[in-house]
Amino acid sequence: MRLLVTGGAGFIGSAYVRLVRRKRPDALVVNVDVLSYAGNLENLRELEGDSKHVFVRADIRDRAKMESLLREHAIEAVVNFAAESHVDRSIVSAVPFLDANVGGCVSLLEAARAAGVRRFLQMSTDEVYGSLGPTGKFNELTPLAPRSPYSASKAAADHFALAFHHTHGLDVVVARCSNNYGPYQFPEKLIPLMILNAFEGLPLPVYGDGGQVRDWIHVEDSCEAIDSILERGRSGEVYNIGADDERANLDVVRAIIRHCGRDESLIRRVADRPGHDRRYATDAGKIRGELAWRPRRRFDEGLAETVAWYRANDGWASRVRSGAYRSYYEQQYAQRLAPGRERS
Ligand code: NAD
Ligand code: TYD
Repeated sequence: MRLLVTGGAGFIGSAYVRLVRRKRPDALVVNVDVLSYAGNLENLRELEGDSKHVFVRADIRDRAKMESLLREHAIEAVVNFAAESHVDRSIVSAVPFLDANVGGCVSLLEAARAAGVRRFLQMSTDEVYGSLGPTGKFNELTPLAPRSPYSASKAAADHFALAFHHTHGLDVVVARCSNNYGPYQFPEKLIPLMILNAFEGLPLPVYGDGGQVRDWIHVEDSCEAIDSILERGRSGEVYNIGADDERANLDVVRAIIRHCGRDESLIRRVADRPGHDRRYATDAGKIRGELAWRPRRRFDEGLAETVAWYRANDGWASRVRSGAYRSYYEQQYAQRLAPGRERS
């Protein structure tokens, strides 16, 4: 198999590239990543010297470059992870989300169509379905109702990908996944941010009442699911991915505190995220039934392993938290954590 993976220096993309190289020794992976703040070649260090992994620093919005890479390497399938991925950043400015997530996806679809690629997998999120109340789950027929600039951009990309299937007959599959956690996740997201702050005894900023619920899946489980959709998913179909592991944010933070040997005095209830989605929960019955995929890790076990990974990889963590991360953290949290700003 000859694959072009985009965003393969990010969190999920790099896990997927490692998985493909482990599972299919003969597969060629052309890994295209622009190396934004979230892209990191250190995430690919296991693949150094691997002649079947070709890294290309490029922007998926560069349609001509994408088409020439697809032709040059006789690519059979594209897996598109490349995106701006953080809700809080999309609240600061939506423009990079429109550019990378919508513009990037459309340029890649055009390139794939021109080059005659056999299959195109669009990596999406359960956040396109909006927010749930205390009960129910999203399934693939739930109407799209995105509420953050991030999820709006992902929903638009899903629509374009499926429109290319219906209009041009491109073989498209869409994977909508719940919240991932695991090694190499950039510490702007809840779990790595809390782990690294807890290690250092820094405040743990919980938005609002901390009662928001996310449905967690280990990144290696989601990559196995993505791979099964790429191999066996039906053309033009959407598949939800989730591991039935719902947790309230405050419970996640408390579990991290225990694993890190800290106490709850580190928790700070801070100003809520504007438009904060209350609850996500994913019905993954379709992928379980059609493709016989099952997650392997439960959240409690996966979280313990993840804390251990961040402890063992403190060099990686300190490098990604230097420079631009410092100013991002300051911008997001300085006001929220200022004395007298806490919520009761
Ligand atoms: P990430 O931010 O860690 O990685 C994104 C990668 O894309 C980075 O390496 C970045 O350099 C690259 N990139 C961004 N814009 C690009 C462009 N224009 N051209 C080429 N490369 C570009 O994100 P992630 O958490 O690994 O998410 C990967 C994908 O999975 C995204 O599409 C995201 O929407 C989706 N997703 C993520 C989650 C999650 O919990 N993290 C859940 C569901 C879906
Ligand atoms: P995040 O990891 O940003 O993922 P998403 O917004 O895509 O679900 O956030 C997960 C949850 O944690 C979300 O409800 C927001 C909350 N959160 C905090 O309470 N504090 C934080 O510092 C961060 C980054 C997130």
